[in-house]
Amino acid sequence: MSELDFIYKRKSIRDYKEGEVPKEDILKMLEAATLAPSPKHQQNWHFVVVQNGEIVSKMAEAVTKSHEYIASLARNEEERAQFMKVLPYYLNFQRSSCAVIVYAKEYDMIEEKILRANGVDEAIIDVIKSPQAGAQGIGAAVENFLLAAANMGYGACYMTGPAHAKTEIEQIIGFEKPGYSLMAIISLGIPADETPRQPRRKPLEEVVTFITE
Ligand SMILES: Cc1cc2nc3c(=O)[nH]c(=O)nc-3n(C[C@H](O)[C@H](O)[C@H](O)COP(=O)(O)O)c2cc1C
Repeated sequence: MSELDFIYKRKSIRDYKEGEVPKEDILKMLEAATLAPSPKHQQNWHFVVVQNGEIVSKMAEAVTKSHEYIASLARNEEERAQFMKVLPYYLNFQRSSCAVIVYAKEYDMIEEKILRANGVDEAIIDVIKSPQAGAQGIGAAVENFLLAAANMGYGACYMTGPAHAKTEIEQIIGFEKPGYSLMAIISLGIPADETPRQPRRKPLEEVVTFITE
């Protein structure tokens, strides 16, 4: 038993068993999500929990249609087949009992306002905005959600793939909050008995640099 077991327990779960996740458990995961750090504590997230099969089917149809459209534009058959192969990975929410749709509002950045008021070049503003703080806040919240789900015995998967049908899904959901748009979908359910192993990581030497002097 290691102090980091709660981290090692998580992996993406894409196959689920029948059965609902009780609302009180979903609320616990959402509470964990909102304990994440966010830029200037703006908490620029909103979570829409979809447990309605009809809406989920419409979302899946929209993702499939958008996917097929993009595939039809592929430069050759190999590229088309490669893209079509990932479609099931964009539809995990259809196999789970619950889809948590994560909306975000752009980070309200004071430095951008100051620079804009002074007519600074857009290229400079683009560099300042490039860390995409709003999106990073959502990532932190989703990870908290995933850790909570795994440690409560549920299976979940973070997905941005289906966001290519973001406009259509937003219309299907009908959720509106000024300034907010769809960033990700979390599929959530009871994990299947057998699920693939977590993929291997790159060795730390490849992804870590210490600067000591
Ligand atoms: C921003 C983001 C987007 C992702 N989008 C998808 C997705 O659309 N579909 C999917 O099946 N997995 C998606 N994943 C899950 C990754 O494929 C997964 O985290 C990675 O393969 C490592 O596996 P693990 O989560 O089991 O450690 C996404 C993960 C992140 C962080």
